[in-house]
Amino acid sequence: MTNVAGFLNAMQITHLSLTNFRNYGRLELALPAGTTLLFGANAQGKTNLLEAIYYLATTRSPYASHDSQLINWEALQGDDLIVVGRLAAQVSTGRGDLRVEMRLIRENRNGNGGFRREALVNQVKVRLMDLLSNIRVVQFLPQDVQVLTGPPAGRRRYLDITLCQTDPIYCQTLATYNKVLEQRNATLRRMNEEGVGQDVLPIFTEKLVNLGGNIFRRRAAFFLELARQAQRIHYEELTDGQEAIKLAYLPRISRDRVDNDPAGQYNEVWEETSDWLVHSTTGAIAERFQRALQGAMSRDVAQARTSVGPHRDDWSLWVNRRDLASYGSRGQQRTAMLALKLAEINWMTGETGETPILLLDEVVAELDDKRRRLLLDYVQRGAQALLTATDPGMLSDAFLAQSTNMRVERGRVQPATILSEG
Ligand SMILES: Nc1ncnc2c1ncn2[C@@H]1O[C@H](COP(=O)(O)OP(=O)(O)OP(=O)(O)O)[C@@H](O)[C@H]1O
Ligand SMILES: [Mg+2]
Repeated sequence: MTNVAGFLNAMQITHLSLTNFRNYGRLELALPAGTTLLFGANAQGKTNLLEAIYYLATTRSPYASHDSQLINWEALQGDDLIVVGRLAAQVSTGRGDLRVEMRLIRENRNGNGGFRREALVNQVKVRLMDLLSNIRVVQFLPQDVQVLTGPPAGRRRYLDITLCQTDPIYCQTLATYNKVLEQRNATLRRMNEEGVGQDVLPIFTEKLVNLGGNIFRRRAAFFLELARQAQRIHYEELTDGQEAIKLAYLPRISRDRVDNDPAGQYNEVWEETSDWLVHSTTGAIAERFQRALQGAMSRDVAQARTSVGPHRDDWSLWVNRRDLASYGSRGQQRTAMLALKLAEINWMTGETGETPILLLDEVVAELDDKRRRLLLDYVQRGAQALLTATDPGMLSDAFLAQSTNMRVERGRVQPATILSEG
């Protein structure tokens, strides 16, 4: 398959194997380049298949509250001592071919045994975080808007998953930061409860500000580029120059005026701070972060937690200086999120020189004609995309003629032709 840009490398999953994953007892599926449409009635396994690919790419499920839920429940019902759910993908990338595998292992001692995960690349065990960046995906879900309207943790997760897929160093830094943060918070708690720990606090603080400096800087640079793309796509491609959005990174590097401002209003301070982060050295950022921690010290001891830092970051989308999450119409929110996701594709392609794999679950039905055409245009430009639909009639004959169509039925996937009514 050649894509429009021609010179881009194409990332593609050529084969997917699932064992005891969700409603797939066993699946061996060859996947072609280009667009694959998975269609079928409700509750047959369409979403589960996309979830498997997303999970291999990110080590996260968008749905499960605990990963052991991903293991096929019939397999868990038996009296095997150990039940293994296995996901594996054969991937062809610009760097050569890879086999990426994840094992979900449940020790089934009367239903309350332990659970663990193993990650493998080319049959060799690796840390979970090293699985990331081997398969890169951008996923579209009908509930994407909830990222925008929900709590900040969801927006941080979105940000981190996107960055981790392209930047293993960022991912490692973030993991270390979170560990140090826990240690620092434990120290604050001891200072609060037992009046001890003052002597070790500076050690954790110093580690925290150095790691945090890198995270702030990387995120600011990411948003600078993502905002440029999202704002352009929104203005030019999605609203024909009718409406301009702003995407802003809200770094929690200080507790200045911003925190006292009424919610929902755009504040230039964020832009200035982001700009400063992009153009400063990590040393200078660490220093500023350190001053903020110093300023927050007495309150942080009282609350036994660290109140400034990238772990409290947020981002937001704005129209006319108003926060879309609080003031936007449903349609405005959806359009803005679509712009953000399309920007993510461009950003990832630019960062890595490879188009990511696109996963679209039931989103086509949600869009009006214009947006659907634009999204499908991106889909067809990429190297590989998987779409699901309960009703393939939502898609044009021209689209169906060029996509590989497969029917999903009770955990089986079969090539199928879709007869047009015309
Ligand atoms: N751990 C599990 N073990 C076995 N089956 C499971 C497990 N988790 C979920 N399922 C089942 O998998 C089935 C298929 O779910 P999936 O969400 O993939 O359906 P779908 O084809 O996307 O349907 P819809 O069109 O309604 O979105 C559901 O009936 C669900 O109950
Ligand atoms: Mg579904």
